[in-house]
Amino acid sequence: MTAPALVPLKPEELNDEQRRMYDAVLASPRAQGATRKLLVREDGSLSGPFDAWLRTPVLGAHLEAVGMAFRTDTVLEAAPREVAVMVVARAWSADFEWWVHGMLARLTGVPQSVIDEIANYRRPVFDDEACAAAHDVAYELVHKRRIDEATIENAKSVLGERALVEVISNVGFYQLVSGILESFHPAPAAADVEVVGPPPAPERAGIDLFDAASTTRAVRRLKPDPIPEETLRRVLEAATWAPSGANQQPWRVIAVRDPKKKQRLAELYQKEWSEYAEMRLASAPKDFLPVAEKMLASGNYLAEHLGEAPVVNVFCFNPEQLYITDGDLDRASVVGGASLYPAVQNMLLACRAEGLGCVLTTLLCKRETEVCELLEIPKPWATHAFVPIGWPVGGGHGPLSRRPVEETVFADRFGEAMFEANESSHS
Ligand SMILES: Cc1cc2nc3c(=O)[nH]c(=O)nc-3n(C[C@H](O)[C@H](O)[C@H](O)COP(=O)(O)O)c2cc1C
Repeated sequence: MTAPALVPLKPEELNDEQRRMYDAVLASPRAQGATRKLLVREDGSLSGPFDAWLRTPVLGAHLEAVGMAFRTDTVLEAAPREVAVMVVARAWSADFEWWVHGMLARLTGVPQSVIDEIANYRRPVFDDEACAAAHDVAYELVHKRRIDEATIENAKSVLGERALVEVISNVGFYQLVSGILESFHPAPAAADVEVVGPPPAPERAGIDLFDAASTTRAVRRLKPDPIPEETLRRVLEAATWAPSGANQQPWRVIAVRDPKKKQRLAELYQKEWSEYAEMRLASAPKDFLPVAEKMLASGNYLAEHLGEAPVVNVFCFNPEQLYITDGDLDRASVVGGASLYPAVQNMLLACRAEGLGCVLTTLLCKRETEVCELLEIPKPWATHAFVPIGWPVGGGHGPLSRRPVEETVFADRFGEAMFEANESSHS
């Protein structure tokens, strides 16, 4: 643990105002019985946020009382309350809060499996719908800084308006507590008490670039579990590092998380996919049928579940900002796209490094009018890629099936193979 940033105040060092706050903390239910040991050191100094609050004792006394009020003066049940606190403690990686409220959560009947899922930023499977509603509200507030309409409507009907406001207030209060704890890192109250914080936040896998590039394939089976905000930021930031003609960066990406919008995209995609799949099957040569069927099975899965992916990244571009050097030739023009797709590929590789599944899709470009209306994409912006991302259902990325380098790279003239087959190559 990080070293404490404040020297704890001992009782004999307190002035009158501090003493009043100190006495209130000791008289509160949280300092009675077994939990007193978690809070009060042998020398009488306080752990948790309380020692810091002693520096501003009148405010500290109010905050102490508010903390108790969340337990005694609310209609919100203890289990959903503790689930919401655990979501906050996880997001802040606040060791002390995670540890204390982990104990309280277990005492109030929250299963360990739920705590473990929260630790891994995954949505737990809940038996209790109040816990589920409190979790979803807390998660969206902390990670998205807003709550989806569907989530709030569900929470209203499950918890009622009063308890819903209490959950949201609880989340705010424990963010304040997390801020104090993570600023001052108070030592635990007793030497024999081991504070066990949440596991470290998932970090980049640190995968070798060649390993990543040689295993980034289409992953179409994605879990609906949310992606932590910081992970999402990392993969989207990787997109911004891509090159573009004259460094124009003529693209933007809309990370679609709104369930209703994702569902609409899924409906549009499903129609386009059905037509495409039918055409592919009808035109597949006989000996290619098993391969086509396998690809189409995973494509069918994506088409049926696109709306459940936690994020669908919609890439759009401004045609007026493209510098097209092949526009006058008597063939399809592709150079414009060269300023757009490197960003998409950067993001795919970053997803690979994060262990996220993803697939580059373009079928929805056919439904650009509806997509632009849905996502309020202004003219002349247009769409060029749709990339659902999420944690893979199965193994995710893995070996590729591609033409090897000896077939695709030529030396000095077209057709002259540059390399011979090499067993150590990545392909
Ligand atoms: C330009 C482009 C468009 C694609 N469009 C779709 C699509 O609309 N739907 C889909 O499921 N996969 C789409 N893919 C993924 C390809 O089907 C996939 O990359 C290819 O079959 C190779 O499979 P692998 O990456 O799993 O080895 C697209 C890929 C590219 C490069």
